[in-house]
Amino acid sequence: MSEDWLFPLPESLPGWMREGAFTGYLAAPGFLAELLAELDFEGPAGAGHLVFGDMVFARKALPAVWAQNIWRNARLLPAPSIGQGAKALREIQRNWWAHPVRLARRAALITDKLPKVSAKAQVFGEAAPSAPLGSFTLWDETTLIAASDCASPYPDGQVRFVEDRFSAPSRAYLKLWEALTLLGVFPKPGELCLDLGSCPGGWTWVLASCGARVFSIDKAPIEPKIAAMPEVDFCQGSGFGLEPKTAGGPEARVDWLCSDMACYPARLLELVTRWLEADACRNFICTLKCQGETDHATIQAFAAIPGSRVLHLSHNKHELTWALIR
Ligand SMILES: C[S@@+](CC[C@H](N)C(=O)[O-])C[C@H]1O[C@@H](n2cnc3c(N)ncnc32)[C@H](O)[C@@H]1O
Repeated sequence: MSEDWLFPLPESLPGWMREGAFTGYLAAPGFLAELLAELDFEGPAGAGHLVFGDMVFARKALPAVWAQNIWRNARLLPAPSIGQGAKALREIQRNWWAHPVRLARRAALITDKLPKVSAKAQVFGEAAPSAPLGSFTLWDETTLIAASDCASPYPDGQVRFVEDRFSAPSRAYLKLWEALTLLGVFPKPGELCLDLGSCPGGWTWVLASCGARVFSIDKAPIEPKIAAMPEVDFCQGSGFGLEPKTAGGPEARVDWLCSDMACYPARLLELVTRWLEADACRNFICTLKCQGETDHATIQAFAAIPGSRVLHLSHNKHELTWALIR
């Protein structure tokens, strides 16, 4: 054990944080209340969890869709000086990202003493970064909370893209770019995609740009330049009117069902269930729009679909993304 550990850990922190590793949940920006409701910890704050700015630290490791990043092995590190704090982090691994809740200046001084971390914008089509990126924050002047193992390889779980502001008809395309990048899978040329709720055409543009064939549906018309893409077949109507068995022809299983429809999650769950029961589609990427009160029960029902994931993307607002990739 390093002699740094002789430096006293602050009494202001609960015993379970001083005793060993714990989990840190960084709330998606603006969604701390959703995160706390989802985690649903029993007992008063401090007993088994602690809220620190936009973070929640807890004894328990739980799935948390409203977390933008999860610090899986958070622990306290004594940092009697800026140099000693940086040294303690460097001894664990190379790459660290500061998430200051307070003492931002001191956190920046520690960062200055660490190897530079490139926070380059992601190019769509390239793989997500593979190098581990740890996160740290300062509890007080001399105590770091740090985790080398974080769920996201992006700083604070935020994915920034080199954008295409000219071809895409709306910024919604960034959600699909992010989902495909995080899932590490892209539609292939010739695959058949359904894009439900496609207007003005951002997702259809992404799918068609990958070379896939896109059957695109919305109650409103999409932009003419997107409808004119050779891969795109646009139909004005309701995404709920499509029958799973007949879509794509009697023999064909659809490769991708993408939905960004403005609708209640419970209604979308019924649609997805029909498509799954009919075994009519392989991959799904759907936005769960939390209109009004967050429907935690339906979100859990989506998360319980075997093999699937629910994510809060950096480009999601009060909505989540459900994906099933097979
Ligand atoms: C957020 S916008 C979609 C943006 C689109 N993904 C893009 O990249 O440009 C939501 C769309 O859902 C459509 N919508 C709502 N209910 C629908 C339904 N029952 N069937 C088809 N489209 C629907 C709306 O007309 C609206 O265009």
